[in-house]
Formats: sequence, structure tokens, C-alpha cells
Amino acid sequence: MKNLSAGILILAVSVFFGCKSEKASTLEASANAAGVNSGALTVITGNYAASPGKFLEGKITEDELNSILQAGVRAPSARNGQPWHFTVVRDDAALAQSIISNITGGNIIIVISGEGDSRTNGGVILDCGLATENIYLAAQALGLGSRIYTGPIDTVNAKYKESLDLPRGYSAVALVRIGRIEPADALSAASSRKDPAGMITYK
Ligand SMILES: Cc1cc2nc3c(=O)[nH]c(=O)nc-3n(C[C@H](O)[C@H](O)[C@H](O)COP(=O)(O)O)c2cc1C
Repeated sequence: MKNLSAGILILAVSVFFGCKSEKASTLEASANAAGVNSGALTVITGNYAASPGKFLEGKITEDELNSILQAGVRAPSARNGQPWHFTVVRDDAALAQSIISNITGGNIIIVISGEGDSRTNGGVILDCGLATENIYLAAQALGLGSRIYTGPIDTVNAKYKESLDLPRGYSAVALVRIGRIEPADALSAASSRKDPAGMITYK
């Protein structure tokens, strides 16, 4: 009887981990298929931007979405705590519209939420911010438009936690809106920046 219980336990554990690793490898495979590396430096150095008016109608593919999510999952975090959760608003157009009122059809919103109160937990905000940036850059590296929003965050936390199915005890930190964009717009100049001379000190 003891052996039988141990056998069932081992089987259950291996099925559980087997499922998990299969899911993870599917995500990685589609990330590789979409080629998330290309153009990342161009994005970081500022040639890509997406103002709200630039988003076009049109869907994001499964491979693109998986690449973008993989970039979020791979973000660095303090003590590798990974205190985040990613909620993809893709199929519920009404929910997307309540979060960003003028959203374009086919755009998705990825809500990055973190453990605790996202207004006060500085460490979690930083980690979630890094995951947000990874998602934002990965989308642009794929030639898509992306934009970070925190304006709707208070409303999201007050009204939409349940509809978004945020994990218990988590609150939203930021949103990334992702959509198709004209290739020419993807390469247009981003907004201007202050003179770097005033923000960099060498010692
Ligand atoms: C933390 C953060 C919050 C932002 N929140 C909003 C927002 O609520 N609404 C919006 O339209 N843009 C938002 N943005 C986009 C910024 O306004 C934009 O990145 C900035 O003006 C620089 O423009 P660029 O990205 O086109 O170069 C946010 C950006 C960041 C980094």
C-alpha cells in the first residue's frame, strides 16, 4: 500500500512538472521562431516610438505574443524574486476599452501586476518596471507599436482587478499596449529627450 501511494505521488509530481516544462518550452520555441533579438539595440537607442494615434487595426500573432511574454518572464529581479504576473487582455474587447478608452481594434494590453500594494512597494515596482520595459522593447524589436501606460492604473486597481483575474494580493503596476503599426512609423523618431550632457556625470 505504501509503495502504491509513493508511486502515485511520483506520477503526480512528474505529470505536474512535465506539463509545466512542456508549456515553458512551447513559449520559448515560439519566441525563437519570431526572432526577438533583432533590432533590440535600435529600439533602446531611440528610433522606435508609438504614440496613441499611430496604432493600426490588426491582430498580434501567437508567436509575437509568446516572444513578448517570454521577454517579460526573462526580466531580471532582485534576488530573482520575479514578483510579477502578466495578464493579457486580448479577447475581451469591452474590458480593453474600459482600461484604454480609445484603444484600436486588435491591440492587446498586457497588465503587469506585482505582489502587494503597487503604490508603496518600491522593490516590486522596480522589478515590475523592468519586466514592463522588456515587454515594451520586445514588441518594438518585432516591428510592432508599444506604449507604456500608468494613467489607468488607479482605476484598474479600484475597479478591474476581478475582471482581470489578478492573483490574490497583487495590484497592477503598469500596462503595455501593443498593436500593429506602419513600418515607417516604427522607424520614425521617438519624442525628443533632454540634453544628455545635463543628465550624465562622469567621475
Ligand atoms: C511609467 C510610464 C507611464 C506612462 N503612462 C502613460 C499614460 O498613462 N498615457 C500615455 O499616453 N502615455 C504614457 N506613457 C508614455 C510616455 O508619455 C512616453 O513614453 C514619453 O512621453 C516619451 O515618448 P516616446 O516614448 O514616444 O519617446 C508612459 C510612459 C512611462 C514610462
